[in-house]
Amino acid sequence: MRTGLIGAGNISDQYLTHLAGYPDVEVVAVGDIDVERARAQAEKYGVPDAGTAQDVLAHPDVELIVNLTVPTAHADVDLMALEAGKHIWSEKPLATSLEAARGVLDLATRKGLRVGCAPDTVLGPGIQTTLRLVREGIGGAVTGLAVMQNRGPDLWHPSIEFFYGPGGGPVLDIGPYYLTSLVLGLGPVTSVTATGGRARLERTVHAGPRQGSVFPVEVPTHAEALLTHASGATSTAIFSFDSSRTRRVLEFGGVDATIEASDPNTFGGRVTRHGAPVVRGEEIVEVVDVDPAGAGRGIGVVDMARSIAAGTPHRATGELAYHVLEIMLAINRAVDAGGTVGIDSTVAPVDLLPEGWSPTAALVG
Ligand SMILES: NC(=O)c1ccc[n+]([C@@H]2O[C@H](COP(=O)([O-])OP(=O)(O)OC[C@H]3O[C@@H](n4cnc5c(N)ncnc54)[C@H](O)[C@@H]3O)[C@@H](O)[C@H]2O)c1
Repeated sequence: MRTGLIGAGNISDQYLTHLAGYPDVEVVAVGDIDVERARAQAEKYGVPDAGTAQDVLAHPDVELIVNLTVPTAHADVDLMALEAGKHIWSEKPLATSLEAARGVLDLATRKGLRVGCAPDTVLGPGIQTTLRLVREGIGGAVTGLAVMQNRGPDLWHPSIEFFYGPGGGPVLDIGPYYLTSLVLGLGPVTSVTATGGRARLERTVHAGPRQGSVFPVEVPTHAEALLTHASGATSTAIFSFDSSRTRRVLEFGGVDATIEASDPNTFGGRVTRHGAPVVRGEEIVEVVDVDPAGAGRGIGVVDMARSIAAGTPHRATGELAYHVLEIMLAINRAVDAGGTVGIDSTVAPVDLLPEGWSPTAALVG
């Protein structure tokens, strides 16, 4: 499937590197508001065309747009792409408001086009192995635990401001990896209670040309949330850019076993099954080191390309991303205003990828 990439910033290196190794997808054009940046990335990765977003949308060969712009531009770029008759893969979050996200999904439906959305790490062998173990049964998947805390991406990202504006903050930036995994493991969420705040009202750019400039923090930077799932399961989620300690945890707990997931922001890693002792004594621990097997950012685009060719549903859908967006916005709302927020949207169960699924195979004829 011929693809155009819009947004040639930081994360475009990972996409362009991986997509070059996936034969079912071919990147034929790169676009950005900063045309020089688009040209440089196209040259670096041997992509034939580069220009503005409009140039990529007007490209006659492009069937699918990979939208790697900043969160506040996601919905606008998606709407333009759908109007131009292209399928969409968007980086997360799907949009910065539910209204904008619904607008994208409704237009796609009217046009008969597909919307896919990051994170595609949940399709990587690490989280797929985790979910397979959960679905095989852990004695009722009754609890989820997600913790992601650090100082924020301030020290390394040159255009850090969007991480602390609408669509940013730890909940909307990092939450998608953990919350999508929790929804895939324990099912849709029906309500959210949360507390938290923001440790600093201003932050400083530490990398790149704007180093030293100070900007306002517009969103919560620490959130502690309790989620109720429709299945009856409950989850605890902590997302923070206000911590001096880096910690990442994702677990699914049942009465027979707890599954400790690999890092949901990566594609492979260690998955551990802690089994309850049959008699009093040591718990039974089984460890699997899961090879990412060539998977990286872009495998969601491969799943979309193959599913469109086969006429079957793809997995990282706009509906899933919409549900996760509603949960994230509800967490931030509960942090700011207190109380419990109901979640109106839901999402159908998503099939796991077949074992041995590989993005490096050539399946689309
Ligand atoms: N950087 C990471 O490690 C990382 C990891 C995973 C996901 N993401 C997600 O990827 C997206 C991009 O992040 P990034 O770190 O690459 O940001 P970035 O600021 O480095 O790059 C964004 C690019 O989009 C361009 N752009 C913005 N609005 C545009 C528009 N309307 N039309 C065309 N181009 C436009 C900018 O000029 C810039 O080149 C975000 O949604 C982010 O959440 C980033």
